[in-house]
Amino acid sequence: MKLLITGGAGFIGSNFVHHILKTYPDYEIINLDALTYAGNLENLKDFDNEPRYTFVKGDICDKALVEELVAKVDIVVHFAAESHVDRSIFDSEAFVRTNVIGTHTLLEAARKAGNKRFHHVSTDEVFGSLGADEAPFSEITPYDPRSPYSASKAGSDHLVRAYFHTHNLPITISNCSNNYGPYHFPEKLIPLIITNLIEGKEIPIYGDGLQVRDWLYVEDHCKAIDLIIHQGKIGETYCVGGASEKPNLEIAKAILKLLGKDEGLIKYVQDRKGHDRRYAIDFSKIKSQLGWEPQVTFEEGLQKTVAWFLENEAWWKNVRSGQYQEYYNQQYKK
Ligand code: NAD
Ligand code: TYD
Repeated sequence: MKLLITGGAGFIGSNFVHHILKTYPDYEIINLDALTYAGNLENLKDFDNEPRYTFVKGDICDKALVEELVAKVDIVVHFAAESHVDRSIFDSEAFVRTNVIGTHTLLEAARKAGNKRFHHVSTDEVFGSLGADEAPFSEITPYDPRSPYSASKAGSDHLVRAYFHTHNLPITISNCSNNYGPYHFPEKLIPLIITNLIEGKEIPIYGDGLQVRDWLYVEDHCKAIDLIIHQGKIGETYCVGGASEKPNLEIAKAILKLLGKDEGLIKYVQDRKGHDRRYAIDFSKIKSQLGWEPQVTFEEGLQKTVAWFLENEAWWKNVRSGQYQEYYNQQYKK
């Protein structure tokens, strides 16, 4: 099987490239990534000399390029997105462009190439915000996105479904909760806390810190997508959760403890605009239909993640200094 992975140089996409190349010795991957600030080829340096892996620097909104690449593969697994809520609050244009127009460009190319199999990676944030006692999100929860990020992802989900109903495009969608693990860009909560603490800095907690997220170890997420692309029912959506609902403050305290640091380093800062209070996922559909459930507990996943950041200081220091953006020039423009 030949896969076109979009956004494979980002956090989850690069973990998925690792997962597929290690799990399936005969699979080939083309990774299409624009290398925005979030794209980091150092995540994939293990495969610089791997004949089954090809990197293409390019934009998912580039129609000609996308058509050329989609025609070469059996399936598109679509990760590429602008993914950070805070950035979407400051400037949402790139979110609409990449998440909506980029997804549309890929869908059109898949249709024109004879209805190629298409898996769309999305988020639980499209469902909105839950109260403390409300039931978790599931596949039948109405859409209610509340940030420019989640609104643009919701738009992309609707387009993917529309291509199934209108054009019979063989699609699946996964809506997952907050991922964490290796190669997580240190602007997001968990890697930001870990790297700040290793450097002896304070950790910013928005508002009262009691917002709740469900946390999914990235390897478990990759396994869920693997199952969906092989065994998922065409036209269906699957909610993927980590069975680990935690308030942000509890996460901060757990990482402080793992790194032996003082709780005085917690710094309460101004809350995010329109901050969603709680996300939670009911993943019983993928559990009963495909036999998937998370294997890594939050405690185990957090320990592994902290250990990974301690062992890979050069990786995140390169990200923080901007040096990681040189990797493409060094490796691909020799
Ligand atoms: P990320 O921000 O780490 O990576 C995104 C990747 O997409 C980067 O490599 C970037 O260079 C690339 N990209 C951005 N715009 C592009 C464009 N126009 N053309 C080509 N490539 C482009 O994101 P992530 O955290 O790995 O998320 C991957 C997917 O999973 C996204 O669709 C996101 O919405 C979804 N998701 C993420 C989480 C999470 O916790 N990180 C949770 C739920 C869903
Ligand atoms: P984030 O990692 O940005 O993911 P998302 O907004 O997509 O859930 O944030 C996770 C939670 O942590 C969210 O409630 C916002 C909060 N947060 C902070 O309190 N401080 C921070 O510095 C960041 C980046 C996030």
